[in-house]
Order: sequence, then structure tokens, then C-alpha cells
Amino acid sequence: MSYGRPVQVIAVTGGKGGVGKSNISVNLSIALAELQRRVVLLDADLGLANVDVLLGLKANHTLADVLSGECTLAEVMVRGPAGINIVPASSGVQQMASLGHQEHAALIHAFSEIGDQIDVLVIDTAAGISDSVVSFVRAANEILVVVCDEPSSITDAYALIKLLNTEHGIFRFRVVANMTRTNQEGSKLFTKLNAVCQRFLDVSLAYIGHIPFDENVRKAVQKQTPLLEYSPRCKASQALRTLAQKVDELPPPSHASGHLEFFVERLLNVANTGS
Ligand SMILES: Nc1ncnc2c1ncn2[C@@H]1O[C@H](COP(=O)(O)OP(=O)(O)O)[C@@H](O)[C@H]1O
Ligand SMILES: [Mg+2]
Repeated sequence: MSYGRPVQVIAVTGGKGGVGKSNISVNLSIALAELQRRVVLLDADLGLANVDVLLGLKANHTLADVLSGECTLAEVMVRGPAGINIVPASSGVQQMASLGHQEHAALIHAFSEIGDQIDVLVIDTAAGISDSVVSFVRAANEILVVVCDEPSSITDAYALIKLLNTEHGIFRFRVVANMTRTNQEGSKLFTKLNAVCQRFLDVSLAYIGHIPFDENVRKAVQKQTPLLEYSPRCKASQALRTLAQKVDELPPPSHASGHLEFFVERLLNVANTGS
């Protein structure tokens, strides 16, 4: 039991689709579990039930069933590789902005029940800058922005950071470069994004690492097997473990509570203000 140790809530986002958010979320979660962390992965992409597909899982319930009071979070969670627990949120997410009192209570209750059984909550967000993406990102205490070497990736990441900064006062972001072809490409991408952010915004961006382009990622996706299991020693797997190590070393959230209630409260505050 790590009672009293705050839950680290990490949102994996990036603005653009196809940059590798879901693969990074899944494999980062597994790598953190390998480091003995108790991990819950929240699939907050309502478009396509990404995580289910990547892991070849079949979910009978989603967060929506928790909101309606039909299931507890424990009943909805699906056991994944390395013992991670996955919350299939797909259809529940849409409701996030219009929760009634009863649903608020159900959600707070659901998360507070598991709060002292988990160390890290990883949230895989959808593409774009919809309200639901913003809600989940705002509720996290670490934000990983995934970028790759495509002009639209940098502009979409910038648009997301700008929105979160100017409309929601978030100023701290960590950048992950994905599908890099050379060792320098990641830091070059970071420098590019950081330059425009420093010029126009009041934000602090930190580079947390890169994942090389690796054919094994696509093959693992086809096999519906997480990369870390499909090809544990390939370049991308090694980089994902290094990323997990760095994430694990991030300072714990500063709030005193060891529970997840604060996460839900932030989520609900966001939903209530309608932003
Ligand atoms: N490091 C990588 N090397 C090679 N291909 C990758 C890598 N990361 C992601 N991909 C490819 O990009 C596709 C989209 O990744 P995904 O994680 O689904 O993106 P997102 O969740 O951002 O939409 C994957 O199916 C995979 O084929
Ligand atoms: Mg995805």
C-alpha cells in the first residue's frame, strides 16, 4: 500500500491524430507496471476505442456504466498486460460535460474507491482540441505532448498548448518526439516547438525524450499486441522504457491528498465551467 503517496496523473496528448499517443500511452503504462507501479490506463478517446483495439481486449462496460451507477470502476476495468488496469471510457467521455449531481457523486465515489490502490493514472486522449480533451488534460498534473516530424504535428501541438495556456492557465508541458529517424531529430523538433511557444506564450516546455521510428510498432499494432510484449528489445521498446523511467522520476504531485478525488474534482470543475 502506498497510502498517502499522491497519484500521478499523466495525460498523453498532442493535438494531431496518428502521432502515436495511444501506442505511447499503452506501452508507457506497461513499462511503468514493469517498474512495479500500479497503473490504470484511461482510454479517453471517444472516436475509436483505441486502447481496446491495440490490446485486442473486449470491454463489456465503459465509464458510462459507472456514471449511470450500474457498475463500480472495478467492474468496468479490464486487466491488461503486465497487470495494468484499463478503463474503457469511450462513450462515457462525451457525457463528461453534462453530468448530473448523481453522476458526479458516482464518479467521485468510483475513483475514491481505487485511489489508494494505484500509483499512476495514464490518460490517452483523443486527437484535436475538443472540450473533452481539454477536460482530461486539465485534470492531469503532467502533460506529455507527443509530436512527430510533420509540419501539422508542430502546428497542432502549438495550437493545443496555446489553448491550454491562454484559456486555462496551464503553463507546464513535457514534449515527447515520436517516430524520429535520427538521434538529433527529437531535440530539433523540440527546439522548433519551444521557439514558437517562448515567442508567443508564457509557458515552460521540457523535452522528455524521443521514440525512434520502428517498423515493429506497426507490426505490433497489426497483431493487437503491445510493442513491449511483441518486441521487448527493439529500439522503440527501449526508448519507451527510458521514457517510463523519466516519468517515474518526475516529482510527485504537490497536493497533499493521496487520493484520486482531486482528479475527479478537477475533471468535474472543468466540466461545470463548460470550458
Ligand atoms: N515509433 C513509431 N515507429 C513507427 N510507427 C509508429 C510509431 N509510433 C506510432 N507509429 C504508427 O503510427 C500509428 C498511429 O499511432 P497511434 O498511437 O494510434 O496514434 P494516435 O493515438 O496519436 O492517433 C500506429 O498504428 C503505428 O503504425
Ligand atoms: Mg489514439
